[in-house]
Amino acid sequence: MSNPNNLQHLIGFVLLLSQFFIFLSHANVPRPSFSNLLDVSSRFPSLSFEDSYSVLWGEPAISEDGNQIQLRLDDHSGSGFVSHDNYLYGFYSASIKLPADYTAGIVLAFYASNSDEFPKYHDELDFEFLGNVKGKPWRMQTNIYGNGSVARGREERFNLWFDPTTGFHDYSILWNDEHIVFMVDNIPIREMRKSEALGGDYPSKPMALYATMWDGSPWATDGGKYPVNYKYAPFFTSFRNLKLIGCAANPIVEEQQSDQCKDLENQSAIRAAEMLSLSSDQLAALKWVRSNHLYYTYCDDKGRYSVPLPECTSEASTPVAKKRRPHKKRSGRSTHSTPANSGQRERNLIERTEGLQIERSQTGLREGFSLPISRRVPHKGNRKTQQ
Ligand SMILES: *[C@@H]1O[C@H](CO)[C@@H](O)[C@H](O)[C@H]1NC(C)=O
Ligand SMILES: *[C@@H]1O[C@H](CO)[C@@H](O)[C@H](O)[C@H]1NC(C)=O
Repeated sequence: MSNPNNLQHLIGFVLLLSQFFIFLSHANVPRPSFSNLLDVSSRFPSLSFEDSYSVLWGEPAISEDGNQIQLRLDDHSGSGFVSHDNYLYGFYSASIKLPADYTAGIVLAFYASNSDEFPKYHDELDFEFLGNVKGKPWRMQTNIYGNGSVARGREERFNLWFDPTTGFHDYSILWNDEHIVFMVDNIPIREMRKSEALGGDYPSKPMALYATMWDGSPWATDGGKYPVNYKYAPFFTSFRNLKLIGCAANPIVEEQQSDQCKDLENQSAIRAAEMLSLSSDQLAALKWVRSNHLYYTYCDDKGRYSVPLPECTSEASTPVAKKRRPHKKRSGRSTHSTPANSGQRERNLIERTEGLQIERSQTGLREGFSLPISRRVPHKGNRKTQQ
Protein backbone atom coordinates (compact mmCIF):
# COMPACT_ATOMS: atom_id res chain seq x y z
CA MET A 1 0.00 0.00 0.00
CA SER A 2 2.97 2.30 0.29
CA ASN A 3 3.17 2.50 -3.47
CA PRO A 4 1.23 5.65 -4.46
CA ASN A 5 0.20 3.98 -7.71
CA ASN A 6 -1.55 1.22 -5.84
CA LEU A 7 -3.33 3.74 -3.70
CA GLN A 8 -4.50 5.58 -6.77
CA HIS A 9 -5.80 2.37 -8.27
CA LEU A 10 -7.61 1.52 -5.07
CA ILE A 11 -9.25 4.93 -4.93
CA GLY A 12 -10.18 4.63 -8.58
CA PHE A 13 -11.70 1.23 -7.95
CA VAL A 14 -13.71 2.41 -4.96
CA LEU A 15 -15.04 5.36 -6.95
CA LEU A 16 -16.01 3.05 -9.78
CA LEU A 17 -17.74 0.72 -7.37
CA SER A 18 -19.73 3.53 -5.82
CA GLN A 19 -20.80 4.70 -9.29
CA PHE A 20 -21.92 1.18 -9.98
CA PHE A 21 -24.08 1.07 -6.85
CA ILE A 22 -25.56 4.45 -7.64
CA PHE A 23 -26.39 3.07 -11.07
CA LEU A 24 -27.97 -0.03 -9.52
CA SER A 25 -30.08 1.86 -6.99
CA HIS A 26 -31.18 3.98 -9.87
CA ALA A 27 -32.18 1.23 -12.20
CA ASN A 28 -33.92 -0.68 -9.44
CA VAL A 29 -37.15 1.26 -9.33
CA PRO A 30 -39.54 -0.99 -11.19
CA ARG A 31 -41.95 0.58 -13.61
CA PRO A 32 -45.30 0.52 -11.82
CA SER A 33 -48.52 -0.44 -13.48
CA PHE A 34 -49.99 2.88 -14.42
CA SER A 35 -53.38 1.27 -14.98
CA ASN A 36 -54.05 1.50 -11.23
CA LEU A 37 -53.53 5.21 -11.18
CA LEU A 38 -56.34 7.54 -10.29
CA ASP A 39 -57.54 9.13 -13.53
CA VAL A 40 -57.49 12.63 -12.10
CA SER A 41 -58.10 14.33 -15.39
CA SER A 42 -61.35 12.49 -16.12
CA ARG A 43 -62.85 13.98 -12.95
CA PHE A 44 -63.09 17.33 -14.64
CA PRO A 45 -65.01 18.40 -17.75
CA SER A 46 -63.36 19.81 -20.87
CA LEU A 47 -64.31 23.35 -21.74
CA SER A 48 -64.61 25.00 -25.11
CA PHE A 49 -62.27 27.81 -25.96
CA GLU A 50 -64.87 30.60 -26.05
CA ASP A 51 -66.30 29.63 -22.69
CA SER A 52 -63.09 30.06 -20.81
CA TYR A 53 -60.29 31.62 -22.83
CA SER A 54 -59.39 34.46 -25.08
CA VAL A 55 -56.57 35.10 -27.50
CA LEU A 56 -53.64 36.79 -25.81
CA TRP A 57 -51.66 37.67 -28.90
CA GLY A 58 -50.85 36.35 -32.36
CA GLU A 59 -53.26 34.22 -34.36
CA PRO A 60 -54.05 30.86 -32.84
CA ALA A 61 -56.34 28.70 -34.99
CA ILE A 62 -59.50 27.65 -33.15
CA SER A 63 -61.59 24.77 -34.47
CA GLU A 64 -65.24 25.45 -35.25
CA ASP A 65 -66.53 23.51 -32.25
CA GLY A 66 -64.03 25.37 -30.07
CA ASN A 67 -62.50 22.18 -28.73
CA GLN A 68 -59.13 22.34 -30.45
CA ILE A 69 -56.66 25.20 -30.58
CA GLN A 70 -53.42 25.50 -32.46
CA LEU A 71 -50.80 27.94 -31.33
CA ARG A 72 -48.71 29.21 -34.20
CA LEU A 73 -45.19 30.56 -34.41
CA ASP A 74 -43.81 32.05 -37.60
CA ASP A 75 -41.28 34.75 -38.41
CA HIS A 76 -43.95 37.37 -37.83
CA SER A 77 -45.26 36.38 -34.40
CA GLY A 78 -45.74 33.77 -31.74
CA SER A 79 -49.16 33.32 -30.17
CA GLY A 80 -50.89 32.65 -26.91
CA PHE A 81 -54.18 32.38 -25.08
CA VAL A 82 -55.27 33.10 -21.51
CA SER A 83 -58.22 32.16 -19.30
CA HIS A 84 -60.96 34.75 -18.78
CA ASP A 85 -60.75 34.45 -15.03
CA ASN A 86 -58.22 34.02 -12.29
CA TYR A 87 -58.78 31.00 -10.07
CA LEU A 88 -57.99 30.50 -6.44
CA TYR A 89 -56.69 26.94 -6.41
CA GLY A 90 -57.55 24.79 -9.33
CA PHE A 91 -57.02 22.00 -11.74
CA TYR A 92 -55.40 23.17 -14.97
CA SER A 93 -54.96 20.67 -17.77
CA ALA A 94 -54.67 20.25 -21.52
CA SER A 95 -53.85 17.54 -24.03
CA ILE A 96 -50.96 18.90 -26.02
CA LYS A 97 -49.15 17.79 -29.16
CA LEU A 98 -45.85 19.51 -29.82
CA PRO A 99 -44.42 20.30 -33.27
CA ALA A 100 -42.01 17.73 -34.74
CA ASP A 101 -38.67 17.82 -36.54
CA TYR A 102 -36.54 20.95 -36.26
CA THR A 103 -37.91 22.93 -33.30
CA ALA A 104 -34.75 24.39 -31.76
CA GLY A 105 -35.21 27.76 -30.08
CA ILE A 106 -38.96 27.30 -29.61
CA VAL A 107 -40.53 27.67 -26.18
CA LEU A 108 -43.98 26.33 -25.43
CA ALA A 109 -45.23 27.40 -22.03
CA PHE A 110 -48.34 26.16 -20.26
CA TYR A 111 -48.57 27.95 -16.96
CA ALA A 112 -50.58 29.71 -14.29
CA SER A 113 -49.58 33.17 -13.16
CA ASN A 114 -50.84 36.41 -11.63
CA SER A 115 -47.94 38.65 -12.59
CA ASP A 116 -50.32 41.14 -14.23
CA GLU A 117 -52.12 41.73 -10.95
CA PHE A 118 -49.14 41.35 -8.63
CA PRO A 119 -46.04 42.35 -10.58
CA LYS A 120 -43.95 42.64 -7.39
CA TYR A 121 -45.04 39.48 -5.63
CA HIS A 122 -46.61 37.20 -8.13
CA ASP A 123 -47.21 33.44 -8.06
CA GLU A 124 -46.51 31.07 -10.92
CA LEU A 125 -46.76 27.37 -11.76
CA ASP A 126 -45.00 26.37 -14.98
CA PHE A 127 -44.79 23.64 -17.52
CA GLU A 128 -42.19 24.72 -20.05
CA PHE A 129 -41.14 22.81 -23.16
CA LEU A 130 -37.94 23.58 -25.02
CA GLY A 131 -37.57 22.57 -28.66
CA ASN A 132 -34.57 20.87 -30.17
CA VAL A 133 -32.71 20.16 -33.37
CA LYS A 134 -34.07 17.40 -35.57
CA GLY A 135 -33.51 13.97 -34.06
CA LYS A 136 -33.15 15.25 -30.49
CA PRO A 137 -36.06 15.25 -28.04
CA TRP A 138 -38.00 18.14 -26.57
CA ARG A 139 -37.12 18.84 -22.96
CA MET A 140 -39.63 19.67 -20.28
CA GLN A 141 -39.23 21.65 -17.12
CA THR A 142 -41.48 22.67 -14.28
CA ASN A 143 -41.11 25.56 -11.92
CA ILE A 144 -42.88 27.14 -8.96
CA TYR A 145 -42.79 30.72 -7.73
CA GLY A 146 -44.72 32.01 -4.73
CA ASN A 147 -45.42 35.59 -3.70
CA GLY A 148 -42.53 37.04 -5.68
CA SER A 149 -39.90 34.43 -4.84
CA VAL A 150 -38.15 35.21 -8.13
CA ALA A 151 -34.72 34.91 -6.53
CA ARG A 152 -35.49 31.29 -5.68
CA GLY A 153 -35.98 29.33 -8.88
CA ARG A 154 -37.31 25.83 -8.25
CA GLU A 155 -36.64 24.27 -11.63
CA GLU A 156 -36.88 20.60 -12.28
CA ARG A 157 -36.05 19.16 -15.69
CA PHE A 158 -37.33 15.94 -17.16
CA ASN A 159 -36.95 13.93 -20.28
CA LEU A 160 -40.18 12.32 -21.44
CA TRP A 161 -40.82 8.57 -21.76
CA PHE A 162 -42.68 9.07 -25.04
CA ASP A 163 -42.43 11.20 -28.14
CA PRO A 164 -44.57 14.31 -27.42
CA THR A 165 -44.76 15.17 -31.14
CA THR A 166 -46.59 12.07 -32.38
CA GLY A 167 -49.70 12.22 -30.22
CA PHE A 168 -51.59 14.13 -27.56
CA HIS A 169 -50.55 13.82 -23.93
CA ASP A 170 -52.17 15.33 -20.85
CA TYR A 171 -50.20 17.88 -18.88
CA SER A 172 -51.94 18.86 -15.66
CA ILE A 173 -51.43 20.90 -12.53
CA LEU A 174 -53.47 20.24 -9.41
CA TRP A 175 -53.22 23.08 -6.91
CA ASN A 176 -55.08 23.19 -3.61
CA ASP A 177 -54.27 24.29 -0.08
CA GLU A 178 -52.53 21.00 0.71
CA HIS A 179 -50.21 20.46 -2.23
CA ILE A 180 -49.27 21.17 -5.82
CA VAL A 181 -48.96 18.20 -8.15
CA PHE A 182 -47.64 18.28 -11.71
CA MET A 183 -48.87 15.34 -13.77
CA VAL A 184 -48.21 13.94 -17.22
CA ASP A 185 -50.94 11.56 -18.42
CA ASN A 186 -52.12 11.42 -14.81
CA ILE A 187 -48.69 10.27 -13.65
CA PRO A 188 -47.49 12.58 -10.88
CA ILE A 189 -44.02 13.87 -11.72
CA ARG A 190 -43.64 16.47 -9.00
CA GLU A 191 -45.32 17.27 -5.71
CA MET A 192 -44.82 20.24 -3.41
CA ARG A 193 -46.67 20.06 -0.12
CA LYS A 194 -47.67 23.23 1.66
CA SER A 195 -45.71 23.72 4.85
CA GLU A 196 -45.00 26.40 7.42
CA ALA A 197 -41.40 26.55 6.31
CA LEU A 198 -42.41 27.51 2.77
CA GLY A 199 -44.31 30.56 4.00
CA GLY A 200 -45.28 32.83 1.12
CA ASP A 201 -43.31 30.69 -1.33
CA TYR A 202 -46.39 28.47 -1.51
CA PRO A 203 -48.62 30.08 -4.17
CA SER A 204 -51.89 31.19 -2.62
CA LYS A 205 -53.34 34.02 -4.69
CA PRO A 206 -55.71 33.52 -7.65
CA MET A 207 -53.94 32.81 -10.95
CA ALA A 208 -54.94 32.82 -14.60
CA LEU A 209 -53.95 30.04 -16.98
CA TYR A 210 -51.78 30.78 -20.03
CA ALA A 211 -50.53 28.88 -23.05
CA THR A 212 -47.92 30.61 -25.20
CA MET A 213 -45.52 29.66 -27.97
CA TRP A 214 -42.64 32.00 -28.74
CA ASP A 215 -39.12 32.41 -29.97
CA GLY A 216 -36.54 31.73 -27.26
CA SER A 217 -33.61 31.70 -29.67
CA PRO A 218 -31.08 33.51 -27.45
CA TRP A 219 -31.15 30.82 -24.75
CA ALA A 220 -33.63 27.97 -25.24
CA THR A 221 -31.55 25.35 -27.03
CA ASP A 222 -27.97 24.76 -25.94
CA GLY A 223 -27.63 28.27 -24.56
CA GLY A 224 -28.67 29.87 -27.84
CA LYS A 225 -26.44 27.83 -30.11
CA TYR A 226 -29.45 26.66 -32.11
CA PRO A 227 -31.92 29.48 -32.79
CA VAL A 228 -35.34 29.08 -34.38
CA ASN A 229 -34.96 28.29 -38.06
CA TYR A 230 -37.88 29.90 -39.87
CA LYS A 231 -37.21 27.81 -42.93
CA TYR A 232 -39.32 25.22 -41.10
CA ALA A 233 -42.07 27.64 -40.06
CA PRO A 234 -44.90 27.90 -39.37
CA PHE A 235 -44.73 25.77 -36.24
CA PHE A 236 -47.95 24.53 -34.63
CA THR A 237 -48.73 23.21 -31.17
CA SER A 238 -52.17 21.65 -30.79
CA PHE A 239 -54.31 21.74 -27.65
CA ARG A 240 -57.52 19.95 -26.76
CA ASN A 241 -59.31 18.74 -23.63
CA LEU A 242 -58.82 22.11 -22.00
CA LYS A 243 -59.72 21.85 -18.35
CA LEU A 244 -59.90 24.64 -15.91
CA ILE A 245 -61.59 24.24 -12.58
CA GLY A 246 -61.36 26.38 -9.53
CA CYS A 247 -63.02 29.24 -7.80
CA ALA A 248 -63.09 32.14 -10.23
CA ALA A 249 -61.89 34.96 -8.04
CA ASN A 250 -61.05 38.60 -8.40
CA PRO A 251 -57.39 38.52 -7.51
CA ILE A 252 -57.26 42.04 -6.15
CA VAL A 253 -59.83 41.58 -3.39
CA GLU A 254 -57.81 38.77 -1.99
CA GLU A 255 -59.04 37.99 1.48
CA GLN A 256 -62.70 38.48 0.85
CA GLN A 257 -62.38 36.15 -2.14
CA SER A 258 -60.68 33.37 -0.34
CA ASP A 259 -63.60 33.27 2.11
CA GLN A 260 -66.00 33.28 -0.76
CA CYS A 261 -64.11 30.42 -2.37
CA LYS A 262 -64.08 28.20 0.67
CA ASP A 263 -66.97 25.88 0.06
CA LEU A 264 -68.02 26.30 -3.52
CA GLU A 265 -68.74 23.27 -5.59
CA ASN A 266 -65.62 23.72 -7.70
CA GLN A 267 -63.49 23.76 -4.61
CA SER A 268 -64.89 20.48 -3.36
CA ALA A 269 -63.79 18.76 -6.58
CA ILE A 270 -60.17 19.79 -6.05
CA ARG A 271 -60.39 19.23 -2.30
CA ALA A 272 -61.83 15.71 -2.44
CA ALA A 273 -59.90 13.36 -0.15
CA GLU A 274 -57.99 11.74 -3.03
CA MET A 275 -56.91 15.18 -4.24
CA LEU A 276 -55.25 16.12 -0.95
CA SER A 277 -52.46 13.56 -0.91
CA LEU A 278 -50.97 11.00 -3.25
CA SER A 279 -52.01 7.35 -3.00
CA SER A 280 -49.38 4.62 -2.77
CA ASP A 281 -49.87 3.90 -6.47
CA GLN A 282 -49.33 7.55 -7.29
CA LEU A 283 -46.25 7.68 -5.08
CA ALA A 284 -44.81 4.62 -6.82
CA ALA A 285 -45.37 6.26 -10.20
CA LEU A 286 -43.85 9.50 -8.96
CA LYS A 287 -40.81 7.64 -7.75
CA TRP A 288 -40.44 5.83 -11.05
CA VAL A 289 -40.54 9.06 -13.03
CA ARG A 290 -38.11 10.83 -10.73
CA SER A 291 -35.65 7.96 -10.67
CA ASN A 292 -35.65 7.47 -14.41
CA HIS A 293 -36.61 10.73 -16.08
CA LEU A 294 -35.67 13.61 -13.81
CA TYR A 295 -32.25 14.92 -14.76
CA TYR A 296 -32.07 18.17 -12.86
CA THR A 297 -33.60 19.37 -9.62
CA TYR A 298 -32.78 22.54 -7.73
CA CYS A 299 -32.84 20.43 -4.54
CA ASP A 300 -29.71 18.69 -5.73
CA ASP A 301 -27.90 21.80 -6.91
CA LYS A 302 -25.39 22.52 -4.15
CA GLY A 303 -23.60 25.10 -6.23
CA ARG A 304 -26.74 27.16 -6.34
CA TYR A 305 -28.26 26.53 -2.93
CA SER A 306 -25.56 25.70 -0.43
CA VAL A 307 -28.37 25.54 2.12
CA PRO A 308 -31.14 23.54 0.43
CA LEU A 309 -34.57 25.19 0.30
CA PRO A 310 -36.89 24.00 3.11
CA GLU A 311 -38.97 21.55 1.09
CA CYS A 312 -35.83 19.72 -0.08
CA THR A 313 -34.95 18.43 3.34
CA SER A 314 -38.38 17.86 4.83
CA GLU A 315 -40.04 14.47 5.20
CA ALA A 316 -42.56 15.35 2.56
CA SER A 317 -40.01 16.12 -0.11
CA THR A 318 -40.00 14.00 -3.22
CA PRO A 319 -36.89 12.04 -4.25
CA VAL A 320 -34.16 13.94 -6.00
CA ALA A 321 -32.30 13.24 -9.20
CA LYS A 322 -29.20 11.12 -8.88
CA LYS A 323 -27.82 11.72 -12.32
CA ARG A 324 -26.38 15.14 -12.81
CA ARG A 325 -25.75 16.75 -16.12
CA PRO A 326 -22.93 19.21 -16.37
CA HIS A 327 -24.38 22.69 -16.65
CA LYS A 328 -23.03 24.91 -19.29
CA LYS A 329 -22.74 28.49 -18.33
CA ARG A 330 -24.92 30.54 -20.52
CA SER A 331 -23.68 33.60 -22.19
CA GLY A 332 -25.80 36.28 -23.72
CA ARG A 333 -29.27 37.46 -22.92
CA SER A 334 -32.41 35.55 -22.32
CA THR A 335 -35.03 37.67 -23.96
CA HIS A 336 -36.46 36.87 -27.33
CA SER A 337 -37.68 38.87 -30.24
CA THR A 338 -40.66 40.97 -29.37
CA PRO A 339 -43.95 40.31 -31.14
CA ALA A 340 -45.37 43.13 -33.21
CA ASN A 341 -47.51 45.68 -31.33
CA SER A 342 -45.49 45.52 -28.17
CA GLY A 343 -45.96 48.64 -26.13
CA GLN A 344 -44.10 50.42 -23.40
CA ARG A 345 -45.20 47.87 -20.84
CA GLU A 346 -43.55 45.12 -22.82
CA ARG A 347 -40.36 47.07 -23.20
CA ASN A 348 -40.35 47.47 -19.45
CA LEU A 349 -40.68 43.75 -19.08
CA ILE A 350 -37.71 43.16 -21.32
CA GLU A 351 -35.62 45.71 -19.52
CA ARG A 352 -36.49 44.18 -16.22
CA THR A 353 -35.66 40.77 -17.58
CA GLU A 354 -32.28 41.91 -18.77
CA GLY A 355 -31.59 43.55 -15.46
CA LEU A 356 -32.32 40.30 -13.68
CA GLN A 357 -30.29 38.41 -16.19
CA ILE A 358 -27.21 40.46 -15.55
CA GLU A 359 -27.65 40.04 -11.83
CA ARG A 360 -27.91 36.33 -12.29
CA SER A 361 -24.78 35.94 -14.34
CA GLN A 362 -22.89 38.03 -11.80
CA THR A 363 -23.93 35.68 -9.04
CA GLY A 364 -22.81 32.77 -11.18
CA LEU A 365 -26.26 31.26 -11.69
CA ARG A 366 -26.85 29.55 -14.92
CA GLU A 367 -28.90 28.97 -17.99
CA GLY A 368 -31.50 31.72 -17.77
CA PHE A 369 -34.13 29.22 -16.77
CA SER A 370 -34.46 30.89 -13.44
CA LEU A 371 -36.71 33.69 -14.60
CA PRO A 372 -40.46 33.31 -14.31
CA ILE A 373 -42.00 32.72 -17.72
CA SER A 374 -44.20 35.74 -17.15
CA ARG A 375 -41.08 37.90 -17.08
CA ARG A 376 -39.71 36.40 -20.25
CA VAL A 377 -42.77 36.70 -22.47
CA PRO A 378 -43.42 40.28 -23.53
CA HIS A 379 -47.04 39.76 -24.45
CA LYS A 380 -49.30 41.10 -21.78
CA GLY A 381 -50.49 44.20 -23.63
CA ASN A 382 -53.85 43.03 -24.92
CA ARG A 383 -54.93 40.92 -22.01
CA LYS A 384 -57.59 43.24 -20.69
CA THR A 385 -60.27 42.50 -23.24
CA GLN A 386 -62.90 41.35 -20.77
CA GLN A 387 -64.33 43.13 -17.76
C1 LIG B 1 -46.53 38.34 0.19
O1 LIG B 1 -45.74 39.48 -0.01
C2 LIG B 1 -46.32 40.66 0.46
C3 LIG B 1 -45.45 41.82 0.02
O2 LIG B 1 -44.12 41.59 0.33
C4 LIG B 1 -46.50 40.58 1.97
O3 LIG B 1 -47.10 41.75 2.45
C5 LIG B 1 -47.37 39.37 2.29
O4 LIG B 1 -47.44 39.20 3.69
C6 LIG B 1 -46.80 38.12 1.67
N1 LIG B 1 -47.73 37.02 1.83
C7 LIG B 1 -47.36 35.88 2.37
C8 LIG B 1 -48.43 34.85 2.44
O5 LIG B 1 -46.24 35.66 2.77
C1 LIG C 1 -66.94 26.46 -11.65
O1 LIG C 1 -66.28 25.99 -12.79
C2 LIG C 1 -66.98 26.20 -14.00
C3 LIG C 1 -66.15 25.60 -15.10
O2 LIG C 1 -64.87 26.17 -15.11
C4 LIG C 1 -67.18 27.70 -14.22
O3 LIG C 1 -67.95 27.92 -15.38
C5 LIG C 1 -67.90 28.29 -13.03
O4 LIG C 1 -67.96 29.70 -13.19
C6 LIG C 1 -67.15 27.96 -11.76
N1 LIG C 1 -67.89 28.45 -10.63
C7 LIG C 1 -67.38 29.31 -9.78
C8 LIG C 1 -68.29 29.77 -8.70
O5 LIG C 1 -66.24 29.70 -9.86
